[in-house]
Amino acid sequence: MNSRTRIIFCVLSAHLGAAAIAGGIVLAGQASHSASPYGVWEIAGLQGLLSAVLGTVLGLAWWWIPINLLFLPAAIFVQQIQLPAMAYLGGFLLLLLFNWGVIFTRVPLFLSRRSVWREVEALLPQDEPYRLLDIGSGLGGMLLRLDQTRPLGRHEGVEISPATWFISWIRAQMRGASARFLRRDYRRLDLSHYDVVFAFLSPLVMEDVLHKASQEMRPGTLLLSLAFPLPGIRHDFVIQTGRSERQKLYGWRVRPDYDLGYQDHPALEHAHLLR
Ligand SMILES: C[S@@+](CC[C@H](N)C(=O)[O-])C[C@H]1O[C@@H](n2cnc3c(N)ncnc32)[C@H](O)[C@@H]1O
Repeated sequence: MNSRTRIIFCVLSAHLGAAAIAGGIVLAGQASHSASPYGVWEIAGLQGLLSAVLGTVLGLAWWWIPINLLFLPAAIFVQQIQLPAMAYLGGFLLLLLFNWGVIFTRVPLFLSRRSVWREVEALLPQDEPYRLLDIGSGLGGMLLRLDQTRPLGRHEGVEISPATWFISWIRAQMRGASARFLRRDYRRLDLSHYDVVFAFLSPLVMEDVLHKASQEMRPGTLLLSLAFPLPGIRHDFVIQTGRSERQKLYGWRVRPDYDLGYQDHPALEHAHLLR
């Protein structure tokens, strides 16, 4: 069972199990009284509580707790306030505009932390110009920071999700930043124009990133990937920017033969050697 199927299985089991237990409690209450002693909110609250507990027991991550807890109460609330049909359509479109990346490229929106931005910044030249691209720039936080701290750099981001891109673009306009944000699929860009390419995507696309980077990036340029290593090849360095695996920043220097895939290059660089 792959991890996505396992999560779906755990969520469904938690909710169905919780519904069964809550239903059993209600039926037992009805058997001892002539009418049900529980109102709809109490039953929904009980189901939410039980599904949060079951989900945790089944191994779901902590952030599923509020989702499981509130799912049924929220569904009943929305049902009761009788929203106009347009509100559902609007909500759907909004989700679509923010999650374009997940739907079309299987990459969700997660934001990198400031600790990551600081480490990226430390790897960049201080007194010479360079050009950096964030492939999947999200809300643009890292580029807007670099724009302030590294005035000699040209910072560009491409983002496929329309709403996410729009927010980054507006942020740049409001700050008068020189960082550029394009609403585009990075797979259509030529990476040979960049000295540094930063990626925070998904393990599902890292093989494509490897293929594209090894074909297009120039020798001596730097590829950085947060959280996800390139499959099957050794990184030149890794920086732990926080406690979890997801906060590892992997780096590769492109070799003169354009090959990112060597295994035992003598000039294995580590982060501090690049600073
Ligand atoms: C995990 S987020 C990272 C956001 C940002 N780089 C950061 O560090 O905070 C990945 C982003 O890549 C975008 N994305 C996914 N596939 C893309 C593609 N082919 N071209 C451009 N953006 C893409 C997603 O929409 C999402 O906003």
